Amino acid sequence: MKRSTRAEMVARRWLLLLLSLAAATGVLRVGGQGGAPDKTGFVSIDCGLPEKSSYVDGATKLEFTSDAVFTDAGTNHNVSAEYATASTTADRIFYNLRSFPAGGGAARNCYTLPSVVPGSKYLVRAKFMYGNYDGLNKPPAFDLHLGVNFWQTVTVPSADWLGIAEVIAFVPDESVQVCLVNTGTGTPFISGLELRPLTSSLYQHANATQGLVLLDRRNFGAGGSTAVRYPDDPYDRVWSPWSNPAEWSEISTTDKIQNTIAPLFVVPSVVMQTAVTPRNSSKAIDFSWDVKPNHVYPDPGMFFILYISELELLAGNAVRQFNVTIDGVIWTKGPYKPIYLSTDSLYNAEAYRGIRQYNFSMNAAGSSTLPPIINAAEAFSVISTANVGTDAQDVSAITAIKAKYQVKKNWMGDPCAPKSLAWDGLTCNYAISTPPRITSINMSYCGLSGDISPDFANLKEIKYLDSSHNNLTGSIPNVLSQLPFLTVLDLTGNQLNGSIPSGLLKRIQDGSLNLRYGNNPNLCSNSSSCQPTPKKSKSMLAVYVAVPVVVIGALAALLFFFMRKKKGSFFAWPTKSTEKPQILESGMQPHRQDDNEQSLEQLQNRQFTYKELEVITKNFQLLLGRGGFGLVYDGFLKDGTHVAVKLKSESSNQGFDEFLTEAQTLTKIHHKNLVSLIGYCKDQKYLALVYEHMSEGTLEDKLRGKDSNAGSLTWRQRLRIALESAQGLEYLHKACSPPFVHRDVKTSNILLNAKLEAKIADFGLMKAFKYDGDTHISTARVVGTHGYLAPEYATALQVTEKIDVYSFGVVLLEVITGQPPIVKCPEPTSIIQWARQRLARGSIEGVVDARMRGGHYDINSVWKVADMALKCTAQAPVKRPTISDVVVQLKECLELEEGSTSDDTSGSCYMVGNSIDRNSSYNTYATDVSQGSTTFEMEDNFGTAPTKDTCPDAR
Ligand SMILES: *[C@@H]1O[C@H](CO)[C@@H](O)[C@H](O)[C@H]1NC(C)=O
Ligand SMILES: *[C@@H]1O[C@H](CO)[C@@H](O)[C@H](O)[C@H]1NC(C)=O
Ligand SMILES: *[C@@H]1O[C@H](CO)[C@@H](O)[C@H](O)[C@H]1NC(C)=O
Ligand SMILES: *[C@@H]1O[C@H](CO)[C@@H](O)[C@H](O)[C@H]1NC(C)=O
Repeated sequence: MKRSTRAEMVARRWLLLLLSLAAATGVLRVGGQGGAPDKTGFVSIDCGLPEKSSYVDGATKLEFTSDAVFTDAGTNHNVSAEYATASTTADRIFYNLRSFPAGGGAARNCYTLPSVVPGSKYLVRAKFMYGNYDGLNKPPAFDLHLGVNFWQTVTVPSADWLGIAEVIAFVPDESVQVCLVNTGTGTPFISGLELRPLTSSLYQHANATQGLVLLDRRNFGAGGSTAVRYPDDPYDRVWSPWSNPAEWSEISTTDKIQNTIAPLFVVPSVVMQTAVTPRNSSKAIDFSWDVKPNHVYPDPGMFFILYISELELLAGNAVRQFNVTIDGVIWTKGPYKPIYLSTDSLYNAEAYRGIRQYNFSMNAAGSSTLPPIINAAEAFSVISTANVGTDAQDVSAITAIKAKYQVKKNWMGDPCAPKSLAWDGLTCNYAISTPPRITSINMSYCGLSGDISPDFANLKEIKYLDSSHNNLTGSIPNVLSQLPFLTVLDLTGNQLNGSIPSGLLKRIQDGSLNLRYGNNPNLCSNSSSCQPTPKKSKSMLAVYVAVPVVVIGALAALLFFFMRKKKGSFFAWPTKSTEKPQILESGMQPHRQDDNEQSLEQLQNRQFTYKELEVITKNFQLLLGRGGFGLVYDGFLKDGTHVAVKLKSESSNQGFDEFLTEAQTLTKIHHKNLVSLIGYCKDQKYLALVYEHMSEGTLEDKLRGKDSNAGSLTWRQRLRIALESAQGLEYLHKACSPPFVHRDVKTSNILLNAKLEAKIADFGLMKAFKYDGDTHISTARVVGTHGYLAPEYATALQVTEKIDVYSFGVVLLEVITGQPPIVKCPEPTSIIQWARQRLARGSIEGVVDARMRGGHYDINSVWKVADMALKCTAQAPVKRPTISDVVVQLKECLELEEGSTSDDTSGSCYMVGNSIDRNSSYNTYATDVSQGSTTFEMEDNFGTAPTKDTCPDAR
């Protein structure tokens, strides 16, 4: 039979859904009450009923079940005995309830009700009786949400109040959530929950974007009888009697009333069989409804439906005609004439607003011999259901993660929506008209244990995943490498073991992922041996990584060193440097290699002879510039790779002891935003380094070189260059272990290729060190460049990554202003102070590079970068952001500038990073500035500032 097949299908679907729900909540309940809808498609829940119990309701004969399978929060209570009596209510559903005390941690607690057919219309009804269950005699008030949309406020006036909230709405998904939201006015509770499927054609006012909240549903002329509901009403609507014996007389019929207004409206015949007319036939039928505004809808839109049928067979010349007015304003177009034994309806198509009380009056028209009549009525207010829940795949992934780690927090209801109730630790992207997506997760210090859930890999839009400082064990799943947008994966401070999987290594190499895995004692970041890394002694803290400037000499020395003691060497170094070298094939990019031997062999592969350099550079024809240790020439490899050759004519003998370590390290430093070393030459007295060619030169030249087109960079190009440089630095700071400090970050060390992609160059002063608490490295002498030096480094030789952040702040200011680090006019002043003073006057125009002013740029994003630059150049290192914070924010700024995403707080760059002090972010700053004061401390790094600004504006 067709019917039973469908029922079976439904049952199977339900079973699956329930199993997955149960699995998702980590609780699998077998047997007892499954919570599946009965054959009517109804779900009837008595909240607070002991788990697995159920009963059949006397009036409707519907089975009501425990709510335990529908929620995983809250506690059960019985109302106090005095309220659980037939004199209060015969309705057993009110005798117990589930409450959600604030101690649970979540402001929102939800029931998940399965919907039989996604995309159909439902009536959802929640019931409440406080019944002093908690003995406090303090009736609460709280909000109800339907999924991610506000439904209504429940304000409980007294302990014996029987509250009913009902909404008719579309359910787009396979389930619908009913959530109780604590608004700080008492503990939310709920007594019962009912889900009733409706035919989609019913109540056309309810559509995908708007729902109808029931204000009243009345059965006129049914005095003395009880409310009509299931099974008389197949949808289990509750039609409450409304009579007014003083004013109205009741009439009724036993004849069946035809429902000719179906499928738009369906009213049970038994409801239509009774009606009222005015007792005094010259009078009107008057009734009214008060609107119930709430904090979300202070002036809700209202819909009214009057159901009318003639119940009397009228004699020959008898006429019943009437007008309906609302507050004296005519509602019916012309005099209305009811139809005998046939239901008709009067309703408004557009919602009414702006009235607090709707006074209906039904007046006999002049021609009428009979008074007006009314059989039934409904009144609804409108809510928006336009908010959509988080992407379904994201929801199931994060729900599984929640279950696996038993996350408590406020992880209830929809992960991202509404924004105000989004789950702690998640950041979402809220695009118009598409479901929110989860873009970042911060689960650090959450006490997570167990392995890394593969479900993280199902959060396809995630960019930032921080599970640092937990107790995660097992190995890192390679499947995470398939997350296309993942840029930061922080697993620092766990108990992970195994090695970094190849997929992730690849992502690190191509610069698309920043993996942080420090402080995992059993994790092997070194592919050669998978044993716990031995603890490094403190004497190992400081290690030089001097590459071109210092190391070039060391390189030579080392070569000689190994040539001399060839027997003892553990790798095959060429005996004769004039041996035919292997020119790099195109596409042979250096790889991150942790294996020492392989690293050095790779280095060996990149050896050129002097003769080859002559070929490459066409006899050193084109001089590009003067580098740190020699002249730089233009050249091409055989395969056409454009290179720059830095040549030093004399070899030096110093520093070769450090070279072994550093040469190994060198091969590890590969990132798309770091200039890569292609090879070297050690040939007799010649030493050279061969780099990839950066055809557009240095950022410094681009900003203020002698070229005619210097300074022509657009704001977007500048922002992108800044971001890429920051990414290069981030790699040095974060991806390498031990971390590196560049120590000479400046615009002349940022090189640009033909596509204007930025790469950090010149690692000659770079320094590697290992953190040990707060200790820092002191080095013998200050290196770096005047104007870029962080104060603690310049004065106390303290080296941490924060000195690079400081220098990078100066770079950012140069990018904005086009000024050099020491502004020359009217007297030498640090660009930091120069910018700080002008910005404090609220003048961004006063600092922005004049050559950029004609172009298009978002003033907000310039402000934010300026703000960030000032933070980077804070006097105290701890006040500076990390380079990762800078990267995140520059990224947000760039995204804003490019309008490529419409993230959460559109207009704010302070979204993802959480270590930036949001309170001091743009808004506060802008406000203060406009009031003529500044929240910034004036820092005095470079003597007193000019009191008068006599200089021309920034160029
Ligand atoms: C509520 O009362 C019933 C008996 O009337 C009892 O079985 C049940 O355990 C009570 N529930 C709670 C939460 O006290
Ligand atoms: C729902 O109805 C409202 C009011 O008639 C209308 O503005 C809205 O566009 C409708 N939404 C959809 C999805 O049809
Ligand atoms: C009601 O209907 C009559 C026609 O029978 C019309 O003349 C009259 O203006 C209407 N009453 C009101 C209040 O508009
Ligand atoms: C990890 O687990 C151990 C014991 O199992 C506990 O002592 C420690 O506090 C946990 N660490 C974190 C960060 O949760």
